Amino acid sequence: MATEQRPFHLVVFGASGFTGQFVTEEVAREQMASEQSSRLPWAVAGRSKEKLQQVLEKAATKLGRATLSSEVGVIICDISNPASLDEMAKQTTLVLNCVGPYRFYGEPVVKACIENGTSCIDICGEPQRFLELMHAKYHEKAAEKGVYIIGSSGFDSIPADLGVLYTRKQMNGTLTAVESFLTINSGPEGLCIHDGTWKSAIYGFGDKGSLRKLRSVSCLKPVPIVGSKLKKRWPVSYCRELNSYSIPFLGSDMSVVKRTQRYLHENLEDSPVQYAAYITVGGITSVIKLMFAGLFFLFFVKFSIGRQLLVKFPWLFSFGYFSKQGPTQKQSRFSLCAPGCPKTHSVDRLASDSEIRCLCLSAGIKAMEESSFTMTFFGQGYSHGVSIEKNKPNIRICTQVKGPEAGYVATPIAMVQAAMTFLNDASDLPKGVYE
Ligand SMILES: NC(=O)c1ccc[n+]([C@@H]2O[C@H](COP(=O)([O-])OP(=O)(O)OC[C@H]3O[C@@H](n4cnc5c(N)ncnc54)[C@H](OP(=O)(O)O)[C@@H]3O)[C@@H](O)[C@H]2O)c1
Repeated sequence: MATEQRPFHLVVFGASGFTGQFVTEEVAREQMASEQSSRLPWAVAGRSKEKLQQVLEKAATKLGRATLSSEVGVIICDISNPASLDEMAKQTTLVLNCVGPYRFYGEPVVKACIENGTSCIDICGEPQRFLELMHAKYHEKAAEKGVYIIGSSGFDSIPADLGVLYTRKQMNGTLTAVESFLTINSGPEGLCIHDGTWKSAIYGFGDKGSLRKLRSVSCLKPVPIVGSKLKKRWPVSYCRELNSYSIPFLGSDMSVVKRTQRYLHENLEDSPVQYAAYITVGGITSVIKLMFAGLFFLFFVKFSIGRQLLVKFPWLFSFGYFSKQGPTQKQSRFSLCAPGCPKTHSVDRLASDSEIRCLCLSAGIKAMEESSFTMTFFGQGYSHGVSIEKNKPNIRICTQVKGPEAGYVATPIAMVQAAMTFLNDASDLPKGVYE
C-alpha cells in the first residue's frame, strides 16, 4: 500500500454534506484524542472550497481547536469530473465517502479508488443497485489491486453485523438463527432525519426490481441452512418480548449480515446463521398510521412525478420525519456517558429459557441525550452435544446493541472507527469489496 508516498492517510469526501460535517468532526475528535506522534495527516474533499472551510471552522469551534483549519487539507473534487476524482484518490490511502445517494454518485468514486490503488469506506444504507452491484462488478478488480471497498459502515449495518457475531460468541452452543428488532427512541423533540437519507429511500424503493434481477443472475451458491429454518414473519407482526408490533427493516442489514455469514462459512468453515431484520413500530395506532403512510409512499415512488414530489416536499410526505434541515442540535446532541460504563452487562430476563446480555456499542464513550437506538437480537440454536439434524433448537439467547442517535452520531462514530481499524490493521484483512 502506497501510504508513505501519499500526502494524506484519509480524506472525507462530501464533508460539506449533512452527514459529512459530523464525520469530519468525528475524525478531528479522534485525531485530537490520539498521541501527537500517531496523528494522521487528513483532508476534506468536496466541490465547494468555501463550504469545506466552513465545515472545518464549525468543527474547530465545537472542539475548541482553533488551528484545525490549517491542519487539515482541502481537496476540490466533483463526481462529474473523473479527473478530479482520480486526483483525490491519488492523494490518500483511504476515502471516507459521504456523497449520496450512492446509487447515483457512488460508482465513479469506487472506480477512481480502485484505479488509483485507494481504499474506500461508505455509509450506504441501500442494498439495491449500489452495495450488491459494486460487489458483483468490482470485487475481483479490487482484490487484484489490493484495495478495500467497504460499504455500509454506518448505522447501516455495523450494529446488525456485529450484533449477530456478538450473539454467536455469547451462545453456549451453536447459534443457527437470529431475528433483530430495531427500536428508535426519539426523545421529547421527536425524530427527524435529513433528506439525504429520504432521497436514498425514495430511489431505493423505486428500483426494487433491479435488486431482484441482480440477485437472480448472481452465480453465488446458496449458503446452507443449518438447524430449523427461520420462519419469515408477516409484514406486520407482534413481538411479545418487546411488547410492540414490528415490520421488516428494509435497509442494508440483511444484505450485509448474509454476506458476512457467507464469507465466514466459505472461508473459515463457520456454521452459517440465518438472519431477519425488523423494526418495532409501537402499538396498533402506530401500525395503522404507518400502513396508511407506507401505502401512500409506495404508490408515489412508482412514478417519476411522484418521486419528484416526494423529493421536493420531504417534510410533508414523511409526516415530519424527514426534512431538508435535518435534526436540530437538540435532536442530535450527545453527552459523555457515565464513567465506567461496562461493555457487557446483564439486563432483565425476558423468558425463563433465554440468556440475556447487553452490548453497549458506544462502549462508555458517548451516549445520546435525547435520541438513541436499541437493537435486540433473539437467537436460537442447539446446546453442545444435541444433534442439529434430528432436533428442534433447544436454547435461546437475547442480546442488545445500544447506541446514540443513529444517523448523525452513531454513523460517524462507526465510519471513523472502521477507518481507524482499516488504517491500523489493514495487513490482517483479506482483499476485495467487503460490506
Ligand atoms: N448508513 C447510515 O446509517 C447513514 C446515515 C446517514 C446518512 N447516510 C447516507 O449518506 C448519504 C448522504 O446523506 P446526507 O444526508 O449527508 O446528504 P447531503 O446533505 O445531501 O450531502 C450530500 C453530499 O454530497 C455532495 N455532492 C452532491 N453532488 C456532488 C457532486 N457532483 N460532486 C461532489 N460532491 C457532491 C454534496 O456536496 P455540496 O455540499 O457541494 O452540495 C454533499 O456534501 C446518503 O446516501 C444517506 O442515505 C447513511
